[in-house]
Amino acid sequence: MSGSLRDVRDERGEVTAVDRFGGGMVEVSVRLPHLAATALPGQFAQIRSGDSFSPLLRRPFSVAWTDGDSASFVLAPVGVGTRLLAALRPGDPLTALGPLGTGFTVGVRAQRSLCVSGGLGCAPFPLLVRALRRQGRDVTVVSGAARSTLLYPAERFRRGDREVRVIELTVDGSAGTPGLVTAAVPERIDAATAVYACGPNPMLAALARTLDGCATLPPLAEVSLEAPMGCGYGTCLGCALPVEGAGGVPAWALCCRQGPVMQIGAVAWDELMKLPPAHVA
Ligand SMILES: Cc1cc2nc3c(=O)[nH]c(=O)nc-3n(C[C@H](O)[C@H](O)[C@H](O)COP(=O)(O)OP(=O)(O)OC[C@H]3O[C@@H](n4cnc5c(N)ncnc54)[C@H](O)[C@@H]3O)c2cc1C
Ligand code: FES
Repeated sequence: MSGSLRDVRDERGEVTAVDRFGGGMVEVSVRLPHLAATALPGQFAQIRSGDSFSPLLRRPFSVAWTDGDSASFVLAPVGVGTRLLAALRPGDPLTALGPLGTGFTVGVRAQRSLCVSGGLGCAPFPLLVRALRRQGRDVTVVSGAARSTLLYPAERFRRGDREVRVIELTVDGSAGTPGLVTAAVPERIDAATAVYACGPNPMLAALARTLDGCATLPPLAEVSLEAPMGCGYGTCLGCALPVEGAGGVPAWALCCRQGPVMQIGAVAWDELMKLPPAHVA
């Protein structure tokens, strides 16, 4: 589902709450009335902590939750921008440009929904789970991380809705079932279950291979992708990703405009895995 650039606004908000979890993961809630009122599940905002221009470029983050005039983001310190964001405290300023990009398709005819979350890929799911539940869907989240301290708390996916199932897996076996999150997928795939996924691109590529090996195709399989982003709205061309073009020839799509949410079958996974990691000013 695509958001129009006409809805995009630059807002300066004030941090209202910072919740800290294990492994440095934080959830930052900010008074951003326009973003909170307009963001669709899967859309993102380009955000910057405070009023500083260092780093120069804003960083992209999924809108994880909205409540009244507040929007929340989930992140962990992995570099210069996220270190500043993870250190925010209530009362601090934050600017956000959004909502940007495509959202997940919520209105598809499917009785059940399977949300596949890897590490910080948890971020878009609270908002998506709420939207799916409002449509009366049965929702299962499979949440994977390298170890227990890096798992997003199960209750944060549910937000008080006890009908939402959360199945946890860790690579080192320190919580839930030992193994990769994709291992929990095949037994849950059928013609009545829509699949939504977010996580590192290699995890999404593994999910694409897993679905290829399933006897039944899901009615919908969407992934939220990552790419280095300069502008976030289609002018810098820095976020181009390889997609399946006509006649099997790879083509390019902008992650910030044609994505970040794309059909899993639209992505040229082998080509994507050859790209170097993101380097952003
Ligand atoms: C549409 C979109 C939504 C995202 N949503 C979230 C989210 O909700 N929560 C979250 O924690 N992260 C999210 N990310 C990733 C997040 O934007 C990057 O981790 C962040 O920009 C890194 O900034 P930095 O200055 O801390 O890192 P840098 O110092 O710039 O780099 C540190 C590391 O992060 C990697 N990196 C830099 N930019 C990106 C990028 N755009 N995508 C992936 N890796 C990157 C670099 O390759 C490097 O390994 C999202 C990315 C995209 C494209
Ligand atoms: S981030 Fe600039 S074109 Fe996509």
